[in-house]
Parts: sequence; structure tokens; C-alpha cells
Amino acid sequence: MRTPVCIIGAGPAGLVLARLLELEGIDSVVLERRDRAHVERRVRAGLLEQGTVETLRRAEAAARLDREGLVHEGFELRVDGDPYRLPFAKLTGANVWMYGQQEVVKDLIAARTAGPGRLHFGVDDVTVARLGSDGATVRCTLDGRPAEITCDFVAGCDGFHGVSRAAAPEGAATGHAYSYPYAWLGVLAEAPPLSSELIYAVGERGFALQSMRSTTISRLYLQVPTDEPVDARSDEEVWQELDLRLTGGTGALPTGRILERSFVPLRSFLCEPMQFGRLFLLGDAAHIVPPSAAKGLNLAVADAELLAGALAVWYGSGRREPLDSYSATALRRAWLGQEFSRWMTDLLHTAPGGTAFDRGLARARFDHLTGSTAAATDFAEQYVGLARR
Ligand code: FAD
Ligand code: DHB
Repeated sequence: MRTPVCIIGAGPAGLVLARLLELEGIDSVVLERRDRAHVERRVRAGLLEQGTVETLRRAEAAARLDREGLVHEGFELRVDGDPYRLPFAKLTGANVWMYGQQEVVKDLIAARTAGPGRLHFGVDDVTVARLGSDGATVRCTLDGRPAEITCDFVAGCDGFHGVSRAAAPEGAATGHAYSYPYAWLGVLAEAPPLSSELIYAVGERGFALQSMRSTTISRLYLQVPTDEPVDARSDEEVWQELDLRLTGGTGALPTGRILERSFVPLRSFLCEPMQFGRLFLLGDAAHIVPPSAAKGLNLAVADAELLAGALAVWYGSGRREPLDSYSATALRRAWLGQEFSRWMTDLLHTAPGGTAFDRGLARARFDHLTGSTAAATDFAEQYVGLARR
């Protein structure tokens, strides 16, 4: 099989890239290891920056998002019970949208499969067999049979545990990794959110986040120890702890059936460079951020938009400068995303063994944010993604 661009992985990065290329008239093949139902049901991110929404509109996959997505203009920070609202839309002119990643993925798959573009699920044994200066060869098992795909370019969109990054030439890639000394337990629940805006709650018992997927479905997170099994707490214990951290134990937090639980390790990872000749890395294949600032999906979509534009220039006019600068441009954004994610993670969490001095410093960081419009505007610009554009 021959294609200009072979895309490994049908997460947000791979699917957005495939759609944008298709709309530019550039053919590609997408190879996804899991089956369609699995990919469409995987509960993960939920906060879309305005720039991400605009990219999804350009990909012609945002009709349902525009109908059903919840537009947010601010969020609440609760520190030891004291509320502070960050009106990011007023400060920056930009909104964010709450809309589940699995819904984004469903919409992109529907758009892709409605057209002639190839998207294969259940593809095993994907390897980049040849990476040359003139093109590449990818091998896999497709419908139970060995297959070979020759292409001009490979887009590695296969997440942190994928095979693409390992296809970089020996010694060419440098990985930076950091693990945080706490994790999150995420739950999706059939319960209306406590408030129409997100609540990031910080206190002595640890961090908690009230988010949502709709007016009837909540997404909640609890800071937990890194070695806590995902089912260590009963549903009742999860609700009780969330209520303690979010409302001070008033019982005001609406509860309901827990539909899904996930354990989320908090870590940072960045691979430099993000480009090895004709192999490009996008999204989680190149960088992981802790979820605190909700940047992972947004960075993945930004990578896809950048590479799609560079490939359009290459196929349109033969100019290769945008392709050659892909890594430098994507890395600059990825580092900014890393820095803000690290900053926000530090802001929201006290590490186990934290002292009264650490809590005093944390309190001072909040006092600075809540007391200074300049500090709040800086935070808001980074939160909505304007600072990386
Ligand atoms: P993925 O979504 O991981 O997609 C990679 C795809 O490649 C998968 O479909 C996988 O099955 C496939 N694949 C893997 N290996 C192979 C192989 N060998 N061959 C073929 N296919 C392969 N980000 C935000 O921006 N906002 C948030 O609010 C947010 N919240 C989060 C909450 C949680 C609980 C978690 C876990 C993450 C969150 N993130 C958030 C991060 C976000 O989900 C990821 O950054 C995003 O999924 C990255 O997209 P991707 O396309 O790069 O990778
Ligand atoms: C969500 C996750 C986050 O980490 C965040 O900062 C905001 C929202 C979410 O999954 O809804």
C-alpha cells in the first residue's frame, strides 16, 4: 500500500491531522491498534481551549461541539474554603469549552469515515521498518495479514506508550522525565456539578477538582497517594472525601452513580527533538504534562495543526522550511505547556510531608494571584492557551 502520509494512532492528534490533510486534498492512512468502540469510550480530557475548538471547526468536526459543548468564562479557586473566581474570559477575551475527549474523538472518526480517507482499527505489530531521506516504510498486521505501507512521511501520534518514538535513530532523541509525588483518582458520575463553573479546591486534606461533561454528568478528581489502588475507596468514601475537600463537609456536593474511575499518575515528559528526518512526533508521543492545567489534548491538537500546515506547503509548493522548523516550533509550545502545567500543579498540591512553611508559601501564591490583576491576567492567558499561540 502506498500513501503520502502514514499516521500511527487515532487519538486526537492523529485524527485531527488526518482530517486537516484530507481537507487540503492530501491522502493519508491512519493505523490504530485498538478497536473503534474502545477508542470512542476512553474517558480522558474535557477542557478545550478556544484555539482547539477553532482547529476542530477547521477540521469540519465541531458541529456537535458547537451545539452541546459548555462554554466557560471563569473558574473558581477555593483555598482552605475561601472562594476566588478567575474571570479568564473578561481578562483575555477567550473562553474554554467543556466537552469530553471521547466525544471529540467520536466526531473526528465520524467525519473521517464519512469521506474516502482510510482509517484502520485493530491494527497489530506496527513498526517503522525503514526511515530514509526519501521516505519511509511502515509494517503492520492488518485484518490478520502482514501489510507494508510505503509513504513520504510518518506521523507518530500513538501516545506515550506507542512505537513511533522508539523508531528515532539510536542516540538522536533526548527524553526529559519527572514524576510528581502524588496522583489523581478521576471519577465520572451521573450527578449534576456543584456549580456551573469548575472548582479547583486546595486544602489540608489535599486537592480536589469539580469538573463536568454536561449539566447532568460530573467529572471529579481527588489527589491520592501514588500507590493507592484505583478501587481502594468505596463509592461512599469517594463522595465523602470529595464533599470534605470541595465544600468543607457540608453535604452540598450532589452525588450519584459512579460510571467510571481512573487512576491518573502525574508526570511530565518531553522528547527533543520532535522530528527525525521523515518521522514526526505529535501529542503524547512527544510530551506528557500532568493534567492539572488541562493542556495535554490541547497541545496534541496544536501539533497536528502545525504539521498539517507544513505538509500542505510541502505538497502545494515544494517548500520545505515549515517542515524543517516543525520540531523547533512545536517544542517551544510544548515547553511553555510544560512550564505552566508544572506551575499549576505546584500551586494546587502540597506534597506528602509538606510543612507549615510549604503551606505558607502556597497561601502567598494565592494571595498574589487574588491581589494582583496583572498576576491574574498572566494566569488567565496561560490557562486559555493564548500565551502559546
Ligand atoms: P492518545 O489520545 O493517547 O492517542 C494515541 C492513540 O494511539 C491511541 O488511540 C492508541 O490506542 C494508539 N496507539 C498506541 N500505540 C499504538 C501502536 N503501537 N500502533 C497503533 N496505534 C497505537 N488534556 C487536556 O488538554 N485537557 C484535559 O482536561 C485533560 N484531562 C486529562 C484527564 C486524564 C484523566 C488524562 C489521563 C489525560 C488528560 N489530558 C487532558 C491529556 C489528554 O487526554 C492527552 O494529552 C491526549 O489524549 C493526547 O492525545 P494524543 O492523540 O497525542 O494521544
Ligand atoms: C478537566 C481536567 C483537568 O485537569 C482540568 O484542569 C480541567 C478539567 C476535566 O477532565 O474535565
